Amino acid sequence: MSKDHFEHKAGTYEKDDNRVSNVGNIANSIIASVSLDRNMQLMDFGSGTGLLLERIAPFVKKITAVDISKSMNAQLAKKQASLGCEIEILEIDLAAADICQKYDGIISSMTMHHVKDTEAMFGKFHALLNEGGFIAISDLDSEDGSFHTEDTGVYHSGFARDSIAQAAQRAGFRDIEVKDASVVRKPHGEYPVFLLTAKK
Ligand SMILES: C[S@@+](CC[C@H](N)C(=O)[O-])C[C@H]1O[C@@H](n2cnc3c(N)ncnc32)[C@H](O)[C@@H]1O
Repeated sequence: MSKDHFEHKAGTYEKDDNRVSNVGNIANSIIASVSLDRNMQLMDFGSGTGLLLERIAPFVKKITAVDISKSMNAQLAKKQASLGCEIEILEIDLAAADICQKYDGIISSMTMHHVKDTEAMFGKFHALLNEGGFIAISDLDSEDGSFHTEDTGVYHSGFARDSIAQAAQRAGFRDIEVKDASVVRKPHGEYPVFLLTAKK
């Protein structure tokens, strides 16, 4: 992604109730699936306007919000001070950038389908985690390509659960689990969403 694919959407991104409730379901699924504590420092990959991290913030010490989109980061910056933990915003393309910091966990919602090489991204997640750290990655199950009605830099029409689990395993993750997290309801269809959790 080199251009800001979300420039025209960022200002109204949270006006879509289905989107907001989907990310709420994903957050609840993460909270129920991984152990969070107030000493933890997490990364939210593809944090957007902060819909996911604002729900996870009260349970941890710090979240580094990683997003390539200037316009989405600007929306997050407006609420940064009112969130439940320290928030750092990194405006980078995680597929290309190198970060020295390590994290106790990496969370992500609805972003992996924007990543061309998902296995390489799992490898990057692995390298960015402390020993015993977790990933909690949520995205669309395989769909027929009708989910997106415009091009926001989409590389995958969702994922087959066994394929994405195998990609995480090849990157070195263990204790991999994939479960139902949510369903996005649109006028033209329903789109199930999974949560993949695993440990380094
Ligand atoms: C569909 S939005 C999801 C935002 C948020 N996680 C949510 O669920 O509301 C995907 C976000 O991922 C970001 N993104 C996509 N590829 C990225 C990359 N390689 N590095 C950093 N951010 C990326 C986009 O800019 C966008 O804000």
